[in-house]
Amino acid sequence: MLPKPVIGILTWRQGQRFGEPDYLRKLVLAGQKLGAEIYLFSHQDVNMKEKKIKGFLPKAGGGWSSRWFPWPQVVIDRYRRRVPEYIRLRNSDLLFFANSPFSKKWRVTQLLAKDRRVMHWIPETHLYEKKRVATMLSKYPLVYVKPGNGSGGKSILRISAKGKEFSLSGRDKQYQTHTAKLDSVSAVENWVGRWVVEQQIADGNFLVQQGIDLGLIPNHVADVRVLIQKDQAGEWRVTGSGVRIGEAGSSTSNLHGGGRAVSFEGLIEQRFGKRQAQLITKECHSLAHEVAKTLEDYFGRMMEFGLDIGVAVDGSVWLIEVNPKPGREVFRQMGDMVTYAKAIERPVQFALHLARKRQTGDVGQREQRVRV
Ligand SMILES: Nc1ncnc2c1ncn2[C@@H]1O[C@H](COP(=O)(O)OP(=O)(O)O)[C@@H](O)[C@H]1O
Ligand SMILES: [Mg+2]
Repeated sequence: MLPKPVIGILTWRQGQRFGEPDYLRKLVLAGQKLGAEIYLFSHQDVNMKEKKIKGFLPKAGGGWSSRWFPWPQVVIDRYRRRVPEYIRLRNSDLLFFANSPFSKKWRVTQLLAKDRRVMHWIPETHLYEKKRVATMLSKYPLVYVKPGNGSGGKSILRISAKGKEFSLSGRDKQYQTHTAKLDSVSAVENWVGRWVVEQQIADGNFLVQQGIDLGLIPNHVADVRVLIQKDQAGEWRVTGSGVRIGEAGSSTSNLHGGGRAVSFEGLIEQRFGKRQAQLITKECHSLAHEVAKTLEDYFGRMMEFGLDIGVAVDGSVWLIEVNPKPGREVFRQMGDMVTYAKAIERPVQFALHLARKRQTGDVGQREQRVRV
């Protein structure tokens, strides 16, 4: 019998504390079921000299056990912190990764906004400068100001204009809601100027973005989360989608902010009728495929993306954010356990596919086509 393919999952660890312990536990179990020798490890667990890794496995009753494992054929990168040792390991050629490193929101938005295949789905976006707020408000009745490097719904400000009346609403770093009603553009500029200073994150710019009217459900923000993943044949497939609904009055839909999740098809069918709902679903899927393919051209081989898609009240479809290491919680919160399980299995199936291709020498490190 052939030896089992060895798959490593790179993640943050401090002592026995792991980033995303629940998900990673399930990922390891799914991998074992699929016949992989699979383990978790962090940057400090790699013994480069002896080419072995101290890996961790979940124990049946909770907690983790560790032992030395053979060098992995394929590594799934699930590290979500920008720790220097991690970045060094990522940039070395020591490990073979299923997914390439990715960029910040601003850089990704810029690339997509210039690419003919996908530009029509990207809301107009600029780096924040004081004057931008006024020019964007003269073009769009709704404008968002948000950090350029992702925030889990924090520090995002929504500005809506009705004639000369402006309503502002945002969540600060502690998820506290701030609101204001202002009656001139210059008052808005000043208010936003204070906001970006108060909410400033270490290395971050802010973006000013065309707002999409996501009010499919009155007084709530509802956006679509589409999970697209590579399957066991290395082909992109939409695994599932769900709608995240923010708390009443909230400017974002993020689940951390107290939102809930419902079925995508159900909600849009109710809102738009069967025929238009089918067209919207189709467009969301082609957006997901085109965006995944386009981003791979720029960044090299990728494994999965969680796309935040906005379906506006007029039925138009927009890409709000691309998450390269997405969560799967939306499916669990919807009660769709079949999709939830599939969403956990697919990364391992893809890693196994790569491991097999590596055995036959049929795959390169990154498979990137466009240099960035
Ligand atoms: N341009 C926009 N138009 C409408 N809603 C937006 C826009 N940008 C962000 N949002 C809302 O805020 C949420 C969080 O924004 P996102 O860019 O995904 O940042 P994060 O990294 O915090 O998840 C989105 O899911 C959406 O509900
Ligand atoms: Mg998001």
